[in-house]
Amino acid sequence: MTDTAATPNVIRRADYAPPAFLIDTVDLEFDLVPERTIVKNTMRVRRNPAAAHTRDLELMGEQLEFVSAAIDAKPYANVRVHDHGITIEDVPDSFELTLTGACDPAANTTLSGLYVSSGNFFTQCEAEGFRRITWFLDRPDVMATYTVTLRADKAAYPVLLSNGNLIAEGDLPDGRHYAKWEDPFRKPSYLFALVAGKLVALEERIKTGSGKDKLLQVWVEPHDLDKTRHAMDSLIHSIRWDEARFGLELDLDRFMIVAVSDFNMGAMENKGLNIFNTKYVLANPETATDTDFANIEAVVGHEYFHNWTGNRVTCRDWFQLSLKEGLTVFRDQEFSAAMSGGDENAAARATKRIEDVRVLRQMQFAEDAGPMAHPVRPESYVEINNFYTMTVYEKGAEVVRMYQTLFGRDGFRKGMDLYFQRYDGQAVTCDDFRAAMADANGCDLAQYERWYSQAGTPRVRVTTRYDEAQKRYSVTLAQDYGNASPAARETQMGPLLIPFAIGLIGPDGADLPLRLEGESAANGTTRVLEFTEAQQTFTFVDVPAKPLPSLLRDFSAPVIVEYDYGDDELAFLLANDSDAFNRWEAGQRFATRELLALAARAAAGEPLEVDGGLVDAFGRVLNDETLSPSFRELALMLPSETYLAEQMALSDPAAVHTARQFVRKRLGTALKADWLATFDKHRTPGAYEPTPEAAGHRALKNLALSYLSELDDPADAVRLATAQYDAANNMTDRAAALSALLNTSAATGGDVASRALADFYTRFEREPLVIDKWFALQATQRGSAQRPVIETVRALMQHPAFNLKNPNRARSLIFSFCAANPAQFHAADGSGYAFWAEQVLELDAINPQVAARLARNLELWRRFTPQLRERMRAALEKVAAGVKSRDVREIVEKALA
Ligand code: TRP
Ligand code: ZN
Repeated sequence: MTDTAATPNVIRRADYAPPAFLIDTVDLEFDLVPERTIVKNTMRVRRNPAAAHTRDLELMGEQLEFVSAAIDAKPYANVRVHDHGITIEDVPDSFELTLTGACDPAANTTLSGLYVSSGNFFTQCEAEGFRRITWFLDRPDVMATYTVTLRADKAAYPVLLSNGNLIAEGDLPDGRHYAKWEDPFRKPSYLFALVAGKLVALEERIKTGSGKDKLLQVWVEPHDLDKTRHAMDSLIHSIRWDEARFGLELDLDRFMIVAVSDFNMGAMENKGLNIFNTKYVLANPETATDTDFANIEAVVGHEYFHNWTGNRVTCRDWFQLSLKEGLTVFRDQEFSAAMSGGDENAAARATKRIEDVRVLRQMQFAEDAGPMAHPVRPESYVEINNFYTMTVYEKGAEVVRMYQTLFGRDGFRKGMDLYFQRYDGQAVTCDDFRAAMADANGCDLAQYERWYSQAGTPRVRVTTRYDEAQKRYSVTLAQDYGNASPAARETQMGPLLIPFAIGLIGPDGADLPLRLEGESAANGTTRVLEFTEAQQTFTFVDVPAKPLPSLLRDFSAPVIVEYDYGDDELAFLLANDSDAFNRWEAGQRFATRELLALAARAAAGEPLEVDGGLVDAFGRVLNDETLSPSFRELALMLPSETYLAEQMALSDPAAVHTARQFVRKRLGTALKADWLATFDKHRTPGAYEPTPEAAGHRALKNLALSYLSELDDPADAVRLATAQYDAANNMTDRAAALSALLNTSAATGGDVASRALADFYTRFEREPLVIDKWFALQATQRGSAQRPVIETVRALMQHPAFNLKNPNRARSLIFSFCAANPAQFHAADGSGYAFWAEQVLELDAINPQVAARLARNLELWRRFTPQLRERMRAALEKVAAGVKSRDVREIVEKALA
């Protein structure tokens, strides 16, 4: 057993070569037994005419026990089995290869490959899990048709599912049974899936736009059947939307969603058999919040949309991951916007846009500022699982969105149509997608490649000049990468094509008609400038009075805009901008400036005072009945502590916390009567409805409650929260009430939350997803000097319901504390970092993918104040010394480099 195919440390995009062999068909037979499942894999293999000749066939395989090999049904002895796979020596040009092996699903805690969860079998093959099931050319450019036979004990595993269509089933001796599935579409191995166990389904039959009958199923454990309606509705809405917006129909006769409670990520788009984390399937009003309902709709949509963008057209190699993920995130964002009424209503559309941009800025901009910074199409990786990132997904979605901003919806649709016309059934690249967009729109998009190849967040500096005499207004844009991290700087080649949307607002608050120099007449009130040089000036003519610029409307590109607005100007934009996104943006800029000034004072031990202008501006938004409740909720929420700390020259989480709490208390106190009135006005009596309107009312009402919970005298908040907790008919209100009680407890040092906390546990003891919320609420609560949250977290790790092996549970307690409670996690004594190091190492031995996510929590350590920085380095070094997996090693080595 020599290691002839040792995996190199770093995989590079430049090293891509086509596979030496192709596999046309795969026939898999499973004898499913938890401790030893036998897999017999029969493949039709041939030499790839497009690749250099090699004598031997090298297949990937991991954690497999070899049983036997045959070529053309005759035993074949010239094989070498090693740690990373198998070498089949001296093979013919075309042959049938049969490999039989065994694996141990019961012992598989990595949740990659074939594993057991709650006594049922599941698979997860993306990105490289298939090689943990059987030996294969486990790379996305090897596409085959699959036939799958599942055999198992009938009583223990009554349901046997795989991709495609069920073609046979029946009983076998000894209480066993079988099912045979056939997937007519060629697919890469990462889209293979099987599920076996005691499951039940909600079923629905629909007709597609062209009149074909389809069977839809949502499979869950029997006690969860009452929580499947929303996922089914979301699936039906997704199917309808993809037909209407992109002309894309469901291609299989049957489409299945299966929920599993042990899962590394959100969900997986396996052909015809999507497997989901229960968190993104199960919902009823008692157990799921408005956010959960919206997330389920978005993730069901996302996985369904992959059927075309990912499955029918797949990736040539994993460097092209954003080809399917960026595009599919863009599609799910557009779907969610449409579902909330965004196609008819600009304000509803802006709400969704604000939520998406907030995630991008808080998470992706931070990624770009650290040691893991990488382009949307990375150049290299050590472990591909570490590259399912905010950059590939969220920035990738922005890069797709910009085609639509440049070409309009119709031009984008033409590009999509051409993409499927050219590449259906193939494994392709990001360049191929860009070529389809360029050719369909008769446009040269060569410069646009830089969006795929350059890391770092571009910065656009804006200066303006008004010429009173000539009535001309010039806007000069300059682009660079600001203070990009070294990892990002390496990739930078030159200026980007930035679609820069702009409007000009007159002194009366109305948009001015826009006429650029050289144009014969004014045309519209928002223009998308094509900004392609390092510096460029755009001149508007016929500008009657000095305007205020509304920059990067609707966040038309993933960049940082620097412009020297005065506080009064920001208040004016917050009150008047016709672009709802920029109204929100103005308020955030105003608050950020104020909060950062206060954080600097807090760090220096100086007294704090809030500018009255901010309180007035926020008060006007709160009472502006022309604004939707959901918009007001977003506009009145302060930027997060994490985002604020990242804006400081040296991150100081304690100072940010002090400043932000100070402003929250000031807003709570100064606007108390308005918050109380708002709370009352936005109640949603009657049966719960997860509609965007009702959710908006609840969001604004619960924001009011959270501001009231900051007051020195918390009596009102305690009274309202207690009543709301007891009377709630939905999880949104119950969880918000509990959160407000926890907050007042911390603020007053009292114990008003303990009764509700205990009640919450007993009420939902049998609902794991709700118990996750119970852990998370406690992990993210404000601490007090008497009781730091780390003590609560350590105590909760001993709770009988805590289980490190379940990713949702680990995330609810450990990740929530480390990533969503910055003031407590970054305690000056380093106790949070020591805890983090312990947990990363424990998880590393159980589930490297999950451990590597937690490991990323300290990657921005160099940007913190010196005292914290040294303690973080010590924790990183501790992990580096004890790490076992390639996943975590890549993260900590890059952080320390
Ligand atoms: N392709 C999945 C998604 O939509 C991502 C995914 C699910 C995944 N499970 C995974 C990626 C496990 C890596 C490992 O978006
Ligand atoms: Zn995806």
